[in-house]
Amino acid sequence: MCGIVGYIGKQNTKEILINGLKELEYRGYDSAGIAVLQDNKLDTFKATGKIKNLEEKLSNSTLNTQQLMPNIGIGHTRWATHGKPTELNAHPHLGEYSCVVHNGIIENYKDLKEELENVGYKFVSQTDTEIIVHLFEFYFDKNNNAKKAFIQTIKRLEGAYSILLITKKEPNKIFFIKHGSPLAIAKGNNDGEVLFASSDAPLIGLANDVVYLDDDICGIADENGIDFFNAIDSKPLTPTFETLPNSKQSAQKNGHRFFMEKEIYEQSDVVVESMLGRVNDENILFDEIDKGITDNINEIKICACGTSYHAGLTASYLFERLSKIRCSIEIASEFRYKEPLLTKDTLFVAISQSGETADTLEALKMAKNAGLKTLVVCNVDNSSMTRIADFTILTRAGIEKGVASTKAFSTQTVVLWMMALYFAKQKNVISNDVLKKEILTLKKVPDSLKVENKIHEKCVRLSKRYLHGHGFFFIGRDVFFPLALEGALKLKEISYLHAEGYPAGEMKHGPIALADPELFTIALMPQHLHYEKIKSNVEELSARDSTICAISPLDFELADDFIKTKKTDHYMLEFFEMLIALQLLSMEISIRLGNDVDMPRNLAKSVTVE
Ligand code: M6R
Repeated sequence: MCGIVGYIGKQNTKEILINGLKELEYRGYDSAGIAVLQDNKLDTFKATGKIKNLEEKLSNSTLNTQQLMPNIGIGHTRWATHGKPTELNAHPHLGEYSCVVHNGIIENYKDLKEELENVGYKFVSQTDTEIIVHLFEFYFDKNNNAKKAFIQTIKRLEGAYSILLITKKEPNKIFFIKHGSPLAIAKGNNDGEVLFASSDAPLIGLANDVVYLDDDICGIADENGIDFFNAIDSKPLTPTFETLPNSKQSAQKNGHRFFMEKEIYEQSDVVVESMLGRVNDENILFDEIDKGITDNINEIKICACGTSYHAGLTASYLFERLSKIRCSIEIASEFRYKEPLLTKDTLFVAISQSGETADTLEALKMAKNAGLKTLVVCNVDNSSMTRIADFTILTRAGIEKGVASTKAFSTQTVVLWMMALYFAKQKNVISNDVLKKEILTLKKVPDSLKVENKIHEKCVRLSKRYLHGHGFFFIGRDVFFPLALEGALKLKEISYLHAEGYPAGEMKHGPIALADPELFTIALMPQHLHYEKIKSNVEELSARDSTICAISPLDFELADDFIKTKKTDHYMLEFFEMLIALQLLSMEISIRLGNDVDMPRNLAKSVTVE
């Protein structure tokens, strides 16, 4: 996830771009850059790290002087996906006379790069983005028509992207396209002003009317107006402008009440980014890891904390079931001091949203020092863990602001499931048919993660009924056991109510003694995995008068309350359907209790101390 901005107008372009990027910093901040075009001179400024580093750099540049006030510019704040967060890889990317910023991923960039290299184009970065500017110039040099060249360029791109391009050949114009990644365009408050941004927060205060572009709308803007057309058939379009929200906070939250709510709602989109370039119809691809990563590996050991541990526990089922590799999982703070036996035929997998959690980081160092192959599944590139591990797979969830992890968990689980399939293929233990079916299912995950109004409304209603009592048990079997743990963790961290996750079959070995009407059982009852077994476990609790809230696609007559999820054809899709219900239920209970949903008491987003 990255953020892009663009500006045409007579105000201080540098200031507008920088302020806009600051509003988008939550989308990524490992490097940033702007480009301005004035007097037919194209200047770019880039810096690694946060926007303030770029700002410092700019304060020493000629751009700071009034007489050089530019009137057209584009900017970018980056969340690295291809290539390290260096200045060379930072956007904007330059050609000979043009310049581009891009949010998204160009899946076929390798083929396009090879094609362009074969006709003499030189690349300076490791990014997928740089091909866009060279491809544009390649077509422009052929037909001397910028609009045509832009359309020809975007027709060649596969993946998800929103792009802003400026060129000395048409020095007053910004070329734009939206396909998969967000892009908003606004008419500024001053005459002839046009503004672009990945979300509306940078536009607030500078404009009143905005268009949130639909996919495959592209166009050209200058101070005389904006031409919109369809990227597929080039037909002109007239999108409807709407009124911008007037608060930046609510714009950053996309109109949601809390960042947690926004992050729950955006899971359906971010998992698409987690899969981009990594899934085709027949195979799973991870360019970032060695093809032979599982050679001589007889065991996978996963280590993590909190929610990441729950994603790891889910993966431990999938690694054994799909990849046929023995898998164990440890809580990082326990692993560090248990004097673990580490053997070199073990692949050590650390999972961490932040890449900075002290216990997981130390566990990773221990494994590395013991000579194990190490891999980290992480959301933050260039974090301490990604710098240490032999291999990194980024989850690409974008910045998660709510302390309670939501999209970090769903993206981790999707990536780990893809890894299980990838390893299975490497080890030749999965048939092509089964792999294809799993891939088809994977592609349905975004749909399962879409929040349905009726589920959200149900959680709002249920939240009233679960504010008292002496505690909650979340129960499930198989991968629904880690999901139960995650449901319980979500509830306790933001509602401060006591909740435990338990394997359903284990309740009768002790915890069932607690059962009475004041004990709330949240039962995860998937249709496609051990339904009959979990059903009898729930019946046992119901017989002892526990209040049952069943989450299931199947009706269950003994339930006191019921959240009915959509019917699907695979237990992993049920997993994601139920995840949404669990996240919403805890959030609504927390809201009803008047708690600070995004910053619950006693917690921190990143736990960098032991
Ligand atoms: O950044 P990490 O994934 O390593 O963080 C691990 C835990 O601290 C984190 O998942 C924590 O449990 C969350 N607050 C859960 O919502």
